[in-house]
Amino acid sequence: MMLSTDKTFPVACSWCLWTLLSLCYGLEFRYHNSAEVEKYLREVTRNYPSFTYRYNIGRSVEGRHLWVLVLGKSPKEHNVGIPEFKYVGNMHGNEVVGRVLLLQLIDYLTKGYHNNPFVTRLLDSTRVHILPSMNPDGFESSSRDCMAGFGRYNSNGVDLNRNFPDIFSGEDEERREFEVLAIMDWMKQERFVLSANLHGGAVVASYPYDNSNRGGELQEGASVSPDNDVFIHLAKTYSYSHTQMHRGNACSDSNFPHGITNGYQWYALPGGMQDYNYVWQQCLEITLELSCCKFPPERELPGFWEANRPALLAYMQQVHLGVKGQVLDADGNPVQNALVEVEGRINLCPFRSGPYGEYYRLLLPGNYTFKVTFPGHEMLIETLTVPYGPENFSALKHNFLLERSVNASTPPTPTKPCSTSGVQPQDSHSAALLATPIITLLPLLLISLLM
Ligand SMILES: *[C@@H]1O[C@H](CO)[C@@H](O)[C@H](O)[C@H]1NC(C)=O
Ligand SMILES: *[C@@H]1O[C@H](CO)[C@@H](O)[C@H](O)[C@H]1NC(C)=O
Ligand SMILES: *[C@@H]1O[C@H](CO)[C@@H](O)[C@H](O)[C@H]1NC(C)=O
Ligand SMILES: [Zn+2]
Repeated sequence: MMLSTDKTFPVACSWCLWTLLSLCYGLEFRYHNSAEVEKYLREVTRNYPSFTYRYNIGRSVEGRHLWVLVLGKSPKEHNVGIPEFKYVGNMHGNEVVGRVLLLQLIDYLTKGYHNNPFVTRLLDSTRVHILPSMNPDGFESSSRDCMAGFGRYNSNGVDLNRNFPDIFSGEDEERREFEVLAIMDWMKQERFVLSANLHGGAVVASYPYDNSNRGGELQEGASVSPDNDVFIHLAKTYSYSHTQMHRGNACSDSNFPHGITNGYQWYALPGGMQDYNYVWQQCLEITLELSCCKFPPERELPGFWEANRPALLAYMQQVHLGVKGQVLDADGNPVQNALVEVEGRINLCPFRSGPYGEYYRLLLPGNYTFKVTFPGHEMLIETLTVPYGPENFSALKHNFLLERSVNASTPPTPTKPCSTSGVQPQDSHSAALLATPIITLLPLLLISLLM
């Protein structure tokens, strides 16, 4: 009896001490390694079981779990009408500020729920998933300096932000890395509405597209998506809620108007995660570059938290832009896979209703005409006046009620596949197209070493 008590006593005691210290003083500002992150997330779910939940989405090449902490009123499952949000940190293993900030954010949200009105409203209306490190192997092998690339790649030497399927690159048969497959599977499980992906090496909010096939999406050097207005608003929400980012000149020789940039306009990037989120998964994602130095000294971490905290919070609230609801048939049954399109926005992969017939469409305030189509049903066209949802932590709620087609012989609406065909290449660029790989390769290589 005594023996076993003796053995567990130091363990229990150090656990008490850790819990007590973190409850009183908050999470320490330093670089926690993968084992410490795992331990911290376990403590969080032990201390706050009613609104936090921990799960992993897979393993890295070296077998480290990719841990996610989810926070929300109902953390273990999706609820109709509650949007899913995510933050992903440390995709490049040596870009570490985001990883630290996401742990601090977890600390802040857990302490604020039922204490701080903003946090309470946020977590009552949103399910927030946080993956502090997408590339733990890279982190563990990083050198602690500002620019050297050690640790950027995963354990196979692959840049994870070049390894996603890319509609602009055509039929690529690229081998996907474990970490990338984990994200892709995760996005099949949870239908995320809004996301951000945290990097370092600059201070700017970058938004899709990152790539282009030099088609009609190119406008004055930017690769412009149909939801460009929403993306600019999202990026500015972050940069203007951040203490310095909106000035656009945080790092030497940088000049980003408003602290934002179109990804492609900055530098072309094939196989990136933000284009994948948006194009293939209908999740609006932006890329946040949060520090000039990729691996800054620990003493600077509290300053990064103060600069980014309001921006991290304001950005999450934007998940409530636009319209949300269900597509229902004449009997009130949810209709999955209906096309839910907004006039004037031809998305490369159309937005569709999900399980429970749910859809979310992030839009700025204004009037929008929706077109909802599903085989065997009349096409539904409705115009909605959309208010500014974040103010009330809720998008406009609207259900689309489909009617069965009166004409039984009406052929089913063809289901639209994903394609860039709506985006016609400009002029006759066939010669230029051949030359582009060579022209774009050099700057791309140079810049990819920097970011
Ligand atoms: C939207 O429609 C409403 C009602 O038809 C109209 O009063 C309003 O002016 C419109 N708003 C905009 C921005 O077009
Ligand atoms: C927010 O909620 C209040 C009270 O329900 C309502 O009067 C207001 O119109 C709402 N604002 C928006 C932007 O939805
Ligand atoms: C029903 O659909 C068929 C085929 O599209 C068409 O030829 C026919 O005129 C339609 N009938 C009515 C009543 O709309
Ligand atoms: Zn990066």
